[in-house]
Amino acid sequence: MPTALVTGPTAGIGTAFARRLARDGYQLVLVARDAGRLAQLARELGGAEVIVADLAVPEQRRAVVERLQDGSRPVDLLVNNAGVGGQGEFWSTPFDRLHQQLELNVTAVVELTHAALPGMRARGAGAVINVASVAGLTPGRGSTYTASKAYVIALSEGLANGLSGTGVRVQALCPGFTHTEFHARAGIDMAWAPEALWLEADFVVDESLRDLQRDVIVSIPSVRYKALVTASRLVPRSVTRFFAARLGGRSRN
Ligand SMILES: NC(=O)c1ccc[n+]([C@@H]2O[C@H](COP(=O)([O-])OP(=O)(O)OC[C@H]3O[C@@H](n4cnc5c(N)ncnc54)[C@H](OP(=O)(O)O)[C@@H]3O)[C@@H](O)[C@H]2O)c1
Repeated sequence: MPTALVTGPTAGIGTAFARRLARDGYQLVLVARDAGRLAQLARELGGAEVIVADLAVPEQRRAVVERLQDGSRPVDLLVNNAGVGGQGEFWSTPFDRLHQQLELNVTAVVELTHAALPGMRARGAGAVINVASVAGLTPGRGSTYTASKAYVIALSEGLANGLSGTGVRVQALCPGFTHTEFHARAGIDMAWAPEALWLEADFVVDESLRDLQRDVIVSIPSVRYKALVTASRLVPRSVTRFFAARLGGRSRN
């Protein structure tokens, strides 16, 4: 039975990954902060290993790193999904909040991927899905969140290139707006966003796993968002930036 480790499975896209992977026959290792929700999900899935950890805290990542490095219980698929957004201007946000976001959205992804890859390479099989965002593909009104997702995309593409031919795959999953707890947690009012722009978490996960089978390295769920990203690439970046600055609404960090 293959094993998948999913970060942030207690809500949204992570829950959808956990449920789908369980249906696909994976044994699951679930990592998040909320012990109650983790236990409830593990029960729902008919049993799963649980690691309660705040991935923004280096010492709490240790247990997850050690689990990924444990060669006697190989992890075949790592889903780096946990991530947070924010709202407000960069210059007026306390640095602690920006730093926590960087630790979770970037450092944890690098550290967990670094822990998982040697074993996968040695076995000549395995995959890492890094949940980024379309925000990381186009310039917007965002600052640290956008930058964190751009980092994750660049990291994933570089690793996928380096691992080509090894049997190990790396994907950057770039969803658009998805119905989850993400915006409420960050205090972002999304009332302005038309319903046509919204995706469902189950759909995002199905597209990601289908793309993984096809070796698609940057997965952009839905024709709508593929078209938006393609259109933004057809015009000079200065033009995209111009419109994003004027139409992008309040800034995000
Ligand atoms: N929703 C969107 O529109 C959207 C669009 C593009 C990309 N994304 C990306 O998708 C990923 C999943 O987000 P989501 O939309 O599913 O958000 P969500 O519903 O808010 O879920 C976030 C998950 O991350 C976990 N988490 C948050 N902080 C954590 C921490 N410090 N340590 C460990 N786990 C933590 C949460 O669990 P606990 O609270 O139990 O720790 C929860 O399970 C994120 O990387 C996000 O950037 C989302």
